[in-house]
This record gives sequence, C-alpha cells and structure tokens, in this order.
Amino acid sequence: MTADRLMVLDLLASVAAAAAWLGAGATAAARRPRAAAALFVAAVLASLTRIWSVVALAGAGWWFVQEKVTLALPLLLITSVAATALAGPRLVAAVRTRATAPTAAPVVVVPLLAAGYAAVAGPVHALLLGYPATWSTGLVITAVVAFAVLVTWRVIAAAPVPGLRVAVAAVTATALVGVGLAVVPPTETTTTGDAAPAGSTALMAQHRTAQDTGHGVGHDTGQGRPVDGFRGPDTPAPGGAIRRFELTARTATITLASGKRVEAWTFDGQVPGPAITAAQGDLIEVRLRNADVSYGVTLHWHGYDVPAGEDGVPGLTQDAVMPGQEFTYRFRADQAGTYWYHTHEVSDEGVRKGLYGTLVVAPRSAAAPEDVDLALPVHTFTGTVVFGDQDRPIVRQASPGTSVRLRLINTDNTPHRFTLSGVPYRLVAVDGDDLHEPGELARVGLRLPAGGRYDLAFTMPATGAVVLRADDRVVGVRLTPVDGAAGDGEDTSGWPELDLLGYGTPAPTAFTAAGPFDRRFTLVLDRGVSLAGGRPMYAHTVNGHAFPDIPTQLVADGDLIKLTVVNRGLETHPWHLHGHRVLVLSRDGRAPTGTPLWLDTFDVRPGEVWEVAFRAANPGLWMNHCHNLSHADMGMMLHLAYEGVTTPFHGAHSG
Ligand code: C2O
Ligand code: CU
Repeated sequence: MTADRLMVLDLLASVAAAAAWLGAGATAAARRPRAAAALFVAAVLASLTRIWSVVALAGAGWWFVQEKVTLALPLLLITSVAATALAGPRLVAAVRTRATAPTAAPVVVVPLLAAGYAAVAGPVHALLLGYPATWSTGLVITAVVAFAVLVTWRVIAAAPVPGLRVAVAAVTATALVGVGLAVVPPTETTTTGDAAPAGSTALMAQHRTAQDTGHGVGHDTGQGRPVDGFRGPDTPAPGGAIRRFELTARTATITLASGKRVEAWTFDGQVPGPAITAAQGDLIEVRLRNADVSYGVTLHWHGYDVPAGEDGVPGLTQDAVMPGQEFTYRFRADQAGTYWYHTHEVSDEGVRKGLYGTLVVAPRSAAAPEDVDLALPVHTFTGTVVFGDQDRPIVRQASPGTSVRLRLINTDNTPHRFTLSGVPYRLVAVDGDDLHEPGELARVGLRLPAGGRYDLAFTMPATGAVVLRADDRVVGVRLTPVDGAAGDGEDTSGWPELDLLGYGTPAPTAFTAAGPFDRRFTLVLDRGVSLAGGRPMYAHTVNGHAFPDIPTQLVADGDLIKLTVVNRGLETHPWHLHGHRVLVLSRDGRAPTGTPLWLDTFDVRPGEVWEVAFRAANPGLWMNHCHNLSHADMGMMLHLAYEGVTTPFHGAHSG
C-alpha cells in the first residue's frame, strides 16, 4: 500500500478505534452486554489495524509515524490492554449469563472509556497538531486523557478512586510542565538539517538568526550585504538588446470571450498581463507602476534566477509598490525557455485575481523557432478555466508540416492535467529547461503542478484536429489542418499519467545524488493549529511551525544543498524555491531513470518524499514556499538566506 493510502487507513482506523472503545464503554454503562461486547471486539480489531498501519507506514519514513510511535500508540496500547484484561472477561461472562448488571460496574466501564479517551488522542494529535509531537504536546495530551479518566471514575462511575489527591496532583503537574515547555521553547528543534556533518553548524546558525530577528532573516545592522544591493546589470550581454516594458497594475472589469465578467486585478487592464519576451542575452527592464491596487504589488519572476534584489518579494527584497509608486526591475535574460511573472504581495489573492503574465526567452542557439508558438497561461477565474485570455477554445488553422510549440503555464493553485490528442508529440522542456532526448508521446495525461511549465512540440499532421485539453474537459486549443475540420477528438479521461521520472534519457549533471552535500534540510509538510504571523489558525505547517516562525535555512555561497521534502498531509504541495532550480534526486527513494529534471516547482503529493539538490550560487534572501498560494498564506513558507546577507525591509508578510 502506498504511504498516502496508509495515512488515510490509519486515520480511519484511529477514528474507528476511538468510536468503538467509547461506544463499548457507553453501552456497558447502559447495561447492554451484547452491544458492548460487539463494540469491544470492534475496538480491539480497529486498534490492531492501527498498529499494523503504523508499522507499515513507518516503512515510508519516520516522519510519517513520529507522533504515533512516541505518543498515540503507547497511550492506546496501555489503555486497551488494561481494558481488555479488566473488561473483556466480564463482558464475555455477561453475554453468557445474560446478566446485565455487572457490565455497568466501574471496573468494566472505566477501562473501556479510558481506552476511548486514549484512542481519541491519536486522531486529535494527527489532525490538530501534526508533525512533530513534542514533549509539550505529549505531556498535555497525556494529562488530559488521565484527567478524563479520573473524572469518569469518580463522577460518572461514582466510585472511590484510591489515591485520588495524589493522582490529581500528578496530572496537574504533568499538564503544567507540558504548558511550560510550550511557553519556553526548547533550544533543540527538529526543524533543520539532518545529522549531516555540516548540519550542526547550520542548526546553530539558524537558531541564532531566528532568535535575533524574530522571523529568521538578519536585518540590516551595518554588517553584511543588504539584499537590495544585489541588482541586475544595466547592459545586455554582447550582441543582446535592451527590452523595455512598462506595466501598470490596476483593478479592472474584464469581459471574457463567453461574456462572463470578472472583477480582476490586472497589469495594463488585461489578463494575463502583457507578454514579456526577449532573446537570450538581452537585458530586460520592466518599470512597474501601481495605479490603484491598494495592497500594493511587486513583480516576481517565477523560475527565473534573477539577482536577489530583483526578485520582487515585499518585506524581504523590496517594499511593495503602493498606488502612485513605481519600481524598475532589470535583469539579463540568461535562461531561455518558458517562465512567468506574478505579484508577490498578497499573492494568493493577487495572482488569483489576475496579476500575472508570461515571460518567454528565445534561445540564442541556431535551432529554428517553431512556426506556431503559443504561450498559454492556464488560469481559473471564479470557476472558469481560461487559456491565455480566452474562456473559449483558441482555434487556429495550421497547414500540415507546420511546427508547433505549446507553452503550458499553470498559474493556478492546484495542478492541471493536460492531454493532447490527434498527434504524437514531445514534452521538450519542463520549467524552462530542455529535457534530454524526450521520447514521442501519445495518449497520456500530463500533470502540471501549480506554477510549473511544460513545452510541447509537434508537427501538424495532414488530417484531423489537434486538441489540447485541460482536466479532460476544457478544450483550450484546437489546431486544424484544413478549414472547418473541427471535432474535439477523443475522450482522454482514461489516459494514464506520464511519470516524468522515467521520461527521456539520462545525461551527466553538474552534481549527483552522491553529493557530497555541504548542508541538508528536511521540510515536513503537514497541518496543525499554529500561530501564523501572530494569527492563531489551522495552518499549513513546515516541521510543526508556520511562517514566520519556521527557522530560516542558512547557506553559504557555493554550498551544495540537499533538500528533502516530506508530505505528511492529505493535500498536494507544489514546492517552490526562489532564485534556484533544483535537480531531482529521488521520489520515494527511487531515482529518476530518464532525463535529468531541473525544476523550480515540484508537486509533493500526500505521502511522498522528494529529495532534490541545488548549488547555492545566487546570493541573497529567498522565499522557499508552497505554490498553492493559499497554503503559503496560511503559513507554508520560509526563507533561505545566504550568510552575511541582510534585509533593510520589514514586514512579515512576504507573500
Ligand atoms: Cu511563483 Cu514565491 O512564487
Ligand atoms: Cu501546499
């Protein structure tokens, strides 16, 4: 069974165990021996299922079972063994003799309910607190369970409790110690590096930084280099041109092709914003103004490894551009390929409402450009999927033999599945980076993570329509070789999903999974009640914390870094590091067998463990976050900082 299924099974078993133990206790108290005995058997079975699922889940990694092994299972085991020993034989006897009175005895009811309370602690911890269990949460939960048992014993079962005072005192002390540990955070934490050689230095440095500034990034103290000093050059590379753009953010009502009206936030009154194009080596200069987007705006160049001062993160690399203000970005178009830009101020709402556009850089190489080249940002406006600026299919005529490139850009918060019917094609680039020897594809689904890009290339066939669909239902593009030859091709919903980790062929890379790595970081993604920027909420957490309390990852220029991302939750997290592209080393322990994959956004699905690596060669302060931007807004983001880089900007939003 896969880890995500085991996680769900474990959750169901833990809820079932809790319900059955509590039900057994309640029916026993109500003098219904048959029902109580049946529920008792169900409780034992559910508890055994739990134990089995935790053991199986442990195979996927300690992160998946940590709080279960250290807390939930010991509580469940102790109480359910006691309940079985004390209540079990009496229930059996009661069913045999049909005597109802004995089942209501405290020696039956109290242990059954105690097992129930302990069983409840499991799903409560898993759902409300998540990873990791700490001494603090462990002690508080244990105290609450013990207290509930005492109340049940004394008040509900109305029986004398030997040593009640001592027991109450012990429970209270346990709870107080637990609360105390939460208020005074321990110096040791699980948030940072593995026990790698360099890990301990990184760990200490991170703590120092985190404590110095409250949210993990050094503020300008006169020492170190301020991040806004890392700016792009003001000349193109030799032979390149200067490409100037002006973008004005403003609110506008957009009318889609279907007539649907959208209250949008736009660049230049349009969605998507103006296309930014350049050739490799050009200097891109974009002057951003804000007319009336009251929260402010910035431009972040998603997937483009610009100098840190051009990265567009408010409160970190610049101040948000408020109405009436402006900011000019300048960087060299060094990377060819398909990228996009978007605001990074209240980015969940801002991007959703339309503050994004495409960035496409043509390679300098000799290769002839395609005859038809479409950049297709795919976005959902209040439930309607829009390709480019259309909520109707983009229909083109293209004669047989025409070369076509479709650049798919997922600007939404969740993945889209794309299918292309009517022609064999190749997935030639992912996240702007060309794949190595991509093979011909047909009848497959391509799952594109939020924020990611796929370039598809093919030659128009002699007959029939070529149809690009999103999510098997929305026709986005229809290319026809002859006028009128329409048709939307086949039903694509049964097509299997392409696994990128087995596509194309291997090629040498600048570094490999063998390292050696200078630093390692592990990010365990989960949900839990936490403070995100001071607001208590059911946050999306990283190692048990929400932004801005997730310790900053500190790196040094030149380091080779390994990042392990573990998804313990039930939602997909498209992980995105600014300023660097990462090489995929493995997913669930298996290395890619095809092309090297250099990504800037990778979907970590429930139960998955990804290992990626990157060279720290772009000094600055960078966001490292989930690109489901509502998750980021609810805590799932942190900073990656180069040693010695500081920020003069303030504001904990960064998102
Ligand atoms: Cu497109 Cu911070 O990201
Ligand atoms: Cu997420």
